[in-house]
Amino acid sequence: MTPEKTISGFSKLRKRDKIKWIAKNFFTDPEHVMNELISYWHGDAAQQKILDGFSENTISNFPMPYGVAPNFLIDGKTYVVPMVIEESSVVAAASAAAKFWMSRGGFKTEILDTQKVGQVHFKWSGNPEKLKGIFPQIKELLILESKDITVNMEQRGGGILDIELLDFNEEEKGLYQIRAYFDTCDSMGANFVNSCLESFGATLRNYVIKSDKLAEDEKDVLIVMSILSNYTPDCLVRASVSCKVDELGDFAGGLNSETFAEKFVTAVKIAHIDPYRATTHNKGIYNGVDAVALATGNDFRAIESCGHTYASRDGKYRSLSYAQVENGIFKFWIDLPLAIGTVGGLTTLHPIAKRSIELLGNPDAKELMSIIASTGLAQNFAAIRSLVTTGIQKGHMKMHLQNILNQMKATEEESSKALKYFDDRVVSFAGVRNFLDSIR
Ligand code: MEV
Repeated sequence: MTPEKTISGFSKLRKRDKIKWIAKNFFTDPEHVMNELISYWHGDAAQQKILDGFSENTISNFPMPYGVAPNFLIDGKTYVVPMVIEESSVVAAASAAAKFWMSRGGFKTEILDTQKVGQVHFKWSGNPEKLKGIFPQIKELLILESKDITVNMEQRGGGILDIELLDFNEEEKGLYQIRAYFDTCDSMGANFVNSCLESFGATLRNYVIKSDKLAEDEKDVLIVMSILSNYTPDCLVRASVSCKVDELGDFAGGLNSETFAEKFVTAVKIAHIDPYRATTHNKGIYNGVDAVALATGNDFRAIESCGHTYASRDGKYRSLSYAQVENGIFKFWIDLPLAIGTVGGLTTLHPIAKRSIELLGNPDAKELMSIIASTGLAQNFAAIRSLVTTGIQKGHMKMHLQNILNQMKATEEESSKALKYFDDRVVSFAGVRNFLDSIR
């Protein structure tokens, strides 16, 4: 790498100097780049300071569209759902699906459980049975010595639910795990869980060193690491929609409700059979889930990694949603693990995330789980509805057309001519360019 492309002490530079160094060494038009990056700074320095506080080496802000999908009827309550997403059609699809189901009873949800999970991985070379024998005593100590951390959460109704010892000697000699289960109430609880786990690690170490129940050669334990698990299969919400098949109505292309239902159920089955399809199918679900997670300041990476593990829980990657027709009733539902929060973390700090929570009527974590799962299901419904009727490109390209027109700096008059022209034509980058050239 050329010397001007490396630097030491970058983090210590003032923000303007960071930008200056980057603009000068990585761009051909440094002045323009500098102005452009600075133009995205927040006008209010205090607000900018809050944003900068979320990360490191920040030089600007990266704007993303903040949209809303109205008309979500969930458990009898209507919501306007905030969504942060850069992909065209997603918010439109969620809104259309929400409206469709609003007149058919809306979304129904059920919280199946809300357990969070954490692990202390350690190595110990003594007799496994001996460790198992003294574990009840160790467990009591783990709970007792983490009281300082758990006392507040307990006052809020949460805390440690259970702690167990797992033996991994078969996979790796001397390897064990303390697996702990937590209720973190309305917070996502990462800090709480990790603090408890680090306390468990220290307690375990002290116990092993000092215990008179262990021989001298058993008094050595290696705490490998203590960290929450983002796999929370028992922090689960079910969202569903259903109606009589004939209430589904008729669909584009002259498709009647029976054929639509049959194609729809088969499409979902395919996503249970074939991981290639399941991946795209679930991606569509996360278009909705991630967008609400982002808008409400939740950790969408944690949510997604958990969902994909859950989708593979029987050893094969499958659809997260299910569909059936039984006794003339069409039913479509999703079981989604969602470890989210409505207090603490970014949710409380990010000014727009705070507004999102307010827009949703200040839900608790369970209610937000229901909203997010319903949005994921709506997104999945809209995608499959398009796929089995008109195909996805028609709606998608219409939205995409507007993006291409903006990129090509089309005037309002040019845009409206282009929208008419492409109404029954395939949209492509080259096609739009040719059309604009022909009218310019
Ligand atoms: C595109 O972002 C998502 C879809 O591909 C989902 C699906 O195919 O089900 C439309």
